[in-house]
Amino acid sequence: MNPLAQKLNETIAAENSHVYDMLSGLGRQIYFPKEGILSQSAEAKAKAKTFNATIGTALENGQPMHLKVIQDTLSAYNPKDLYEYAPPAGKPELRSAWRSKMLEENPSLKGKSLGNPIATNALTHGLSIVADLFADSGDAVIIPDKNWENYELTFGIRRGAELVYYPLYNEQRRFNSAALRDAILAQKDKGKAIVILNFPNNPTGYSPGAEEGQEIVDAIKAGAEAGINVVAVTDDAYFGLFFEDSLHESLAGHLAGLHPRVLSVKVDGATKEEYVWGFRVGFITYAGQSEALLAALEQKTMGIIRATISSGPHPSQTFVLHALKSPEFHAQKLEKFHIMKGRANRVKTLLDSGKFDDAWEYYPFNSGYFMCLKLRSVNAETLRTHLLDRYGIGTIALGDTDLRVAFSCIEEKDIDQLFETIYQGVKDLEQAAAK
Ligand SMILES: Cc1ncc(COP(=O)(O)O)c(C=O)c1O
Repeated sequence: MNPLAQKLNETIAAENSHVYDMLSGLGRQIYFPKEGILSQSAEAKAKAKTFNATIGTALENGQPMHLKVIQDTLSAYNPKDLYEYAPPAGKPELRSAWRSKMLEENPSLKGKSLGNPIATNALTHGLSIVADLFADSGDAVIIPDKNWENYELTFGIRRGAELVYYPLYNEQRRFNSAALRDAILAQKDKGKAIVILNFPNNPTGYSPGAEEGQEIVDAIKAGAEAGINVVAVTDDAYFGLFFEDSLHESLAGHLAGLHPRVLSVKVDGATKEEYVWGFRVGFITYAGQSEALLAALEQKTMGIIRATISSGPHPSQTFVLHALKSPEFHAQKLEKFHIMKGRANRVKTLLDSGKFDDAWEYYPFNSGYFMCLKLRSVNAETLRTHLLDRYGIGTIALGDTDLRVAFSCIEEKDIDQLFETIYQGVKDLEQAAAK
């Protein structure tokens, strides 16, 4: 094993042996090279005042070489904030701005030890780093039955982990923390579980209330007390879009420092929160561990980044940083929040009118981009294709009964027509079946 990896492992094991036990084989092997091109270039950047002939970029007139056809469309930005490589862990100013934002928006993180967010190529990449560092073949990854489909590729196909499902809702149509607890405790023989918590949930748009949040934390703690090492990952992709009285913060803060056998890992980003899907700016942040352990995990994370993408895109990190620092940022975000909330409220009012009750019920939702219908009489995929072919309406079919509707994409004035057409689609299929 490389001596740097060995050293990081020794630090992790000395600071918290449970976290060491959580690491995958790859997680143990990986390290960030201290003496390679990147560190020599960084040293030269600080000290080489005559000529800096270190890194594989090009300079001209004291700034990064660039083409006018590109710079002309980006003239608000300095070439040094666009063309140079961003550091593997992200632009330092962006990392600290995101950290401040995180602390401001998640009061339960205050007073907890919190690493510096490490920039990722958006949330998918953050999740894949978690998979690389912590998931080995056969490890259990616990997710609800209503989930974002990509976990299967990231953790299952890519890393050979075993996806373990539990029902998201219980009979009272609240978060099923008893099922989560059972799913965690069922991993006692393995001694390890990766739990992914995604609120607001894709596809249902559900976020837990304070009491449910506490039940989730208790379920994870029960697993830890039973001797199971839990990597508790909060996938906060839709963070901030809380329209009702659910928890308005991530569970990452409540999970930080919960128990020595729990590692809180927060995966979030600008993708959905700042409406910059294609920018690919996200973060992975470790919490609730000693400074030395947080630093070692940061090095391991940078090792995975160096080994896979080397570093994230610099222009979009600059754009997001610019937004975070802008005085108008909060007002503009609030304006968009109200638009999204208006759409969610309209959907709820419409569905609660009762006029569609014979065709479907809906899963409880209070946040995020989506909601999900549970169809009573027709198959979801049949309805999806019918809506598309007959009415030009696109939805997502999930399993036999569920239809996901992204109200985030539909103007409030069009919501009635959308659901009335979906209802008409159900009636068309019912009539065809009755013939
Ligand atoms: C729950 C959830 N997590 C993560 C992601 C991935 O986000 P990104 O586009 O930042 O990779 C998505 C995107 O749809 C998502 O719904």
